[in-house]
Amino acid sequence: MLDNESHQPTILVGVTGCIAAYKSCELVRALQNAGARVKVVMTEHGSRFVTPATFKALTREPVALQLFDDPNAPIHHISLAREADVFVIAPATANVINKLAAGVADDLLTTTALATQAPLLVAPAMNNHMWRDQTVQDSLRTLRQRGVSIIEPESGYLACGDVGEGRLASIEQIARAALAELNRARDLVGQRILVTAGPTREPLDPVRFISSPSSGLTGYAIAEEAARRGAEVTLVSGPVSLPDPFDVTVVRVQTAQEMFEAASWSFPQSTAAIFTAAVADFRPESRANQKLKKGIDTASDGSLTIAMVPNIDILATLAADKGDTFVVGFAAETRDVVAAGQGKLVSKHADMIVANDVSDPTLGFASKHNQVWFISADEVEQTEVITKGELARLLLDKVALQITR
Ligand code: CTP
Repeated sequence: MLDNESHQPTILVGVTGCIAAYKSCELVRALQNAGARVKVVMTEHGSRFVTPATFKALTREPVALQLFDDPNAPIHHISLAREADVFVIAPATANVINKLAAGVADDLLTTTALATQAPLLVAPAMNNHMWRDQTVQDSLRTLRQRGVSIIEPESGYLACGDVGEGRLASIEQIARAALAELNRARDLVGQRILVTAGPTREPLDPVRFISSPSSGLTGYAIAEEAARRGAEVTLVSGPVSLPDPFDVTVVRVQTAQEMFEAASWSFPQSTAAIFTAAVADFRPESRANQKLKKGIDTASDGSLTIAMVPNIDILATLAADKGDTFVVGFAAETRDVVAAGQGKLVSKHADMIVANDVSDPTLGFASKHNQVWFISADEVEQTEVITKGELARLLLDKVALQITR
């Protein structure tokens, strides 16, 4: 059953052209029984297997079929995309999977999939040879990397007479996955979450600064995901070239000191604080008023010596007096990743450290992928190589467990 009873959430079920389409009727019923409002969008081929009239009777809602089938809603794909709290395509044919991976949007179902911000689940069903086809497997990998949940098909007797992998997963399994995603979509309502992100810039003179190559992607992905799940989010961001995430209060800062001051405002009211920023540990002792010049500011041998002083540790300082706020720090390491992460858990008074190995150039910093260890006092758990969006999801699952119980 659904956790949140105050608002009836909408699950959009996509039905594509496969014999397993008849099982979508049972899926609709299972989701309704769990308390969801269900709407159905079908492809033209899907409607050859089960008529829209069947789904209309089951859902008591109009069934969406074509891009222009509702004269009152000329941009139907957008209204459907907005209404959906979760979009589950079951069964999904090889053709639709390949189209989703390529971003093809040539009918109402695929256009809605492209337009929606709702979590997308795909339950494939097809002949076993098609399932093993390289293009299909490549498309599935692409979709997984984008954060789409694939509900793996089962092995067994297939409608075409072959025996093998490709049979639609059980309705219970698909319904469970969709409902879990739905609960996740609302699990942070009422929470206030602070996120720090990006690098800081410590000025040396009017035109130069000390910084790091942090892209801010991880912090922005976390802020966006937390807001999508209903939290009130404040993102204190160093200079990055990312747009403000939707529905997030963004405070843009430059230096570590400014980041500390902005974070200090939100921290006491936050139920969780997630420190992803790559804060400069040191700053030049003084900022020159004029541009530093060779021959003027340099020593006789041409060298330039800059005295650096330590910056405040934002995480450690705020977490030292954290009250009930659940505190997550990140640790960028190049060796002994777990031990270093465990050290920072204690020294920074954090409840969890997300540690990663930044020595691998394909992961971390500017990369879209990451592999991390979630370290808490009683647990160390390593992830696969995942996207930063997936990392945001997994981390917030863990944070939600702590702050909503
Ligand atoms: N952090 C912070 N303020 C600082 C330095 C770090 O808030 N001045 C936070 C980071 O946002 C991160 C965690 O502390 O959540 C660990 O950052 P990291 O750079 O890995 O560690 P450092 O404390 O800088 O330690 P070291 O560079 O010695 O590994």
